[in-house]
Amino acid sequence: MILEVRDMYTSYGLSQILFGISLHVYERECVALLGRNGVGKTTTLRSIMGLTPPHQGQVRYKARDITGMPAYRVARLGVGFVPEDRRIFPGLTVRENLDVARKPPVSTGSMVWTLERVYAIFPVLARLEARKGGHLSGGEQQMLTIGRTLMGNPDLLLLDEPSEGLAPLVVRDLEQRIQQLKEEGVTILLCEQNAKFALALSDRAYVLEKGQVRFTGTIAALQANTAVRQHYLGL
Ligand SMILES: Nc1ncnc2c1ncn2[C@@H]1O[C@H](COP(=O)(O)OP(=O)(O)O)[C@@H](O)[C@H]1O
Ligand SMILES: [Mg+2]
Repeated sequence: MILEVRDMYTSYGLSQILFGISLHVYERECVALLGRNGVGKTTTLRSIMGLTPPHQGQVRYKARDITGMPAYRVARLGVGFVPEDRRIFPGLTVRENLDVARKPPVSTGSMVWTLERVYAIFPVLARLEARKGGHLSGGEQQMLTIGRTLMGNPDLLLLDEPSEGLAPLVVRDLEQRIQQLKEEGVTILLCEQNAKFALALSDRAYVLEKGQVRFTGTIAALQANTAVRQHYLGL
């Protein structure tokens, strides 16, 4: 098991957002964290990452307690966080954006991400290598954000709503790119409102509502559960 969250409670000031979230991710899995807008998906990732530390519960990463550890240290341990807002450097070229994100891997023996390997997953980035980040489309920026994070050689990738705001055709392309990442052995925890997109990519899912896990199981079990799909996912 690479990540284990146990009974996690998180608040922003006085407003309690997460009420006892438990979840786990195994190496090489893609696990979906689903639910409508505002249920606590981003807060869960921020809690894991140490950006909004939980006030109760535990986060274990590679069997180590990282609860409340500052985000830069969590990142150094090999957790790559791709936030919703696609933080690329608009004034740097695609290639420069990737170059500055380069970081050696934490675990010895794990494969090392190079420009060539990132370009192999996202060919569009190779074509636009010299373009400024600020001049990319939304889909291209999303791919660059993921590519940047890969250059840091994470052992676990936290993806927050990668499909958000992208046109259907772009989402389909992104789905294939992430599928390829998965085949390369990257472990992913994927937050999505777009359940269709996430279900196509994931091995298992957690469905949240009001800061609690309401369903957990395989994608097949979720597909078969009409009540959960309709009630929590609108599918
Ligand atoms: N910085 C914040 N301060 C106070 N409340 C917040 C903050 N960020 C998010 N929230 C609230 O927390 C709840 C969960 O938000 P979030 O984790 O972003 O949900 P999701 O990612 O599932 O859409 C929402 O009700 C949202 O309004
Ligand atoms: Mg969110």
